[in-house]
Amino acid sequence: MAQFILVRLIVYCPTAVSILVSVLDYLNIPDSKENASIIVTLAALNDLDQYEIAGRQLLEQIGVIERIPQKLTARTEITYRQIRKYLVGNSVLDLGCGDGNIGKILASRDNLEVALADVYKHDNIRNIGLFFYRIATNGIIPTNRQYDASLLLTVLHHANNPIKTLQEAKRVTKKDGRIIVIESVYGIQDSSPFGQLSQEEQRLANIFFDHFYNRIVHYSEEKEHKVNVPFNFNTPEQWKSIFKLYGLEEIAYETLGIDQPIVPEYHTLHVLVRL
Ligand SMILES: C[S@@+](CC[C@H](N)C(=O)[O-])C[C@H]1O[C@@H](n2cnc3c(N)ncnc32)[C@H](O)[C@@H]1O
Repeated sequence: MAQFILVRLIVYCPTAVSILVSVLDYLNIPDSKENASIIVTLAALNDLDQYEIAGRQLLEQIGVIERIPQKLTARTEITYRQIRKYLVGNSVLDLGCGDGNIGKILASRDNLEVALADVYKHDNIRNIGLFFYRIATNGIIPTNRQYDASLLLTVLHHANNPIKTLQEAKRVTKKDGRIIVIESVYGIQDSSPFGQLSQEEQRLANIFFDHFYNRIVHYSEEKEHKVNVPFNFNTPEQWKSIFKLYGLEEIAYETLGIDQPIVPEYHTLHVLVRL
């Protein structure tokens, strides 16, 4: 219920609504302003479960869902280019891999040995043929193996216990290996529409769009296939303090900004090594 109030709060923020219009424009959806208003109205008038169902039905009707697969390929390519230069060694563990497509590119294009891990097994993973670890509900990855690089790409804010997830990433990464984190953050000041929002409005916008992308665009009827959305967002400075506190040194940092038009969250990239 508390989550629903948070998802709903942003509908009163005109800038966030205009960001939603820009997502629909990116997908070439006709009448984007009217459709964004309908989405916002659905969020305001329904409970969270009803909003997810009604929102998904609307996205199917207006052609969003049929355009998604092509845009997801673009999203994967963007992420691949962002992380590729920071990888070391031959083995990679993609923690919180989702559909597994980033790991698939790393294996096929760069000939890396890639394993995938997540709290649930996306249907696509069966087709990819990479080794998959199912992460337990307590966050434990069922292996003692260590990898040259571990990826946490927009995962920490989805984990119920991000600290535990970070500690697990550290445990399964070699001493001279790297952990590459991409996070959705708030507390940004720049000239973009997002950067003009107050810190709290940015946090709420992240909540709204994280929920919209993971639970409406990627709607699933099956309870165990619904992406976990605990909204564990931090500012970049808060993440940096957490990394330091848990024995991880940041050796590279980039502000990626709103780099994925389909998910309008502000991203930062952190390359970490074990101390
Ligand atoms: C937004 S998706 C990102 C998927 C993929 N990393 C990508 O960038 O395409 C977040 C993923 O984190 C996963 N997740 C949630 N809690 C987790 C946890 N405790 N440990 C690892 N992954 C988790 C979700 O199941 C989901 O697949």
